Amino acid sequence: MNNEYLKFAKEIAYEAGKIIKKYFYEDNGASYKYDQTIVTKADTEINDLLILKVKEKYPNHSVDGEEEHYGHGDYIWVCDPIDGTSMYARHIPVAVFSLALVIDGVPTVGVVYDAFTDNLYTAVKGQGAYRNDVKISVNNIKLDDMRSVSHMDMWPEVDYNLYDTIKELGKKTYFVGLGSVIRAGMCVANGDFNLALYPGTKHRNCDLAAIKVIVEEAGGKVTDLFGNEQRYDQDIKGAIISNSVVHAEVIDVIKNNLE
Ligand code: IPD
Ligand code: CA
Ligand code: CA
Repeated sequence: MNNEYLKFAKEIAYEAGKIIKKYFYEDNGASYKYDQTIVTKADTEINDLLILKVKEKYPNHSVDGEEEHYGHGDYIWVCDPIDGTSMYARHIPVAVFSLALVIDGVPTVGVVYDAFTDNLYTAVKGQGAYRNDVKISVNNIKLDDMRSVSHMDMWPEVDYNLYDTIKELGKKTYFVGLGSVIRAGMCVANGDFNLALYPGTKHRNCDLAAIKVIVEEAGGKVTDLFGNEQRYDQDIKGAIISNSVVHAEVIDVIKNNLE
């Protein structure tokens, strides 16, 4: 059954990709939401499409989309229609579609689609992670290795202030900010980065659900900022997304700096 869900998720991802490209070069109607993040016509169109498809194919399932929700149930399609909207709205091609089937809080199937490079990242729990059907895995690079590259995300009024953590870890690793935590998560899954830090909390499970299953199936580790497992059908406590080799060291630094 999970493979049938994966097929469904892949089809939606390619449809979403068409919408993402359709609005990329034209007026995408970008506006600011209550939480100061951006929404465009493409975000709402993709969210609507997902709800329509889920209603048609799995009427007992529900949708937890960043822009809209539908239904109640134990099988929840958690979706970020576009992650990296602040880049997308500025016509910078860094943005991905993300969808996960979360069953009792656990992401079981995940897809992330980068329409600009036509890379589809997928995973089913227990079956490995893939990019365009080729198996991918995390790297084993330590933080103080000159090849170490990490992603960070920060914004005003964030719940967890990671400035001190980034300052300390930044003595070892090269921090970049991609503008899309989900795109960065795929860089970890793919072995390009060894770490991504995410301080988001409220309504931010859509940023992490697909990352969780894809990165872990690629051999990495995804926890909250304190090293604990968390549910992905409710608010989260940030995230450490890593190649697993650096995970314990990062938890220690965060605990020292946040407490
Ligand atoms: C944003 C991206 C970004 C992060 C923001 C998110 P959006 O998602 O994940 O990396 O810094 O917190 O809101 O708004 O583009 O879906
Ligand atoms: Ca979004
Ligand atoms: Ca997002």
